[in-house]
Amino acid sequence: MENSEISKRVLVCQNRTCRKQGSAKVLAAFQCLADAEVEVVASGCLGHCGSGPMVLVLPEKVWYSRVCPGDVGAIECTFRTQS
Ligand code: FES
Repeated sequence: MENSEISKRVLVCQNRTCRKQGSAKVLAAFQCLADAEVEVVASGCLGHCGSGPMVLVLPEKVWYSRVCPGDVGAIECTFRTQS
């Protein structure tokens, strides 16, 4: 994968509190969407542990809280249309 092609980076917190709230499944759902333009990263704590699973879409710095796997398609629609 060429890093120069990446236009979005999706950080999915995999720290302890978000993991307890199901962030591993959220990460897996985002990883199914990863391609040359979208990099999906298992991140450390994003600092909003009480609202997890937390997701941060860069470079716009758009935050999503309490994300479940069923939300992933709708979130993808928002950042695919911004490109
Ligand atoms: S553990 Fe996920 S934001 Fe802190």
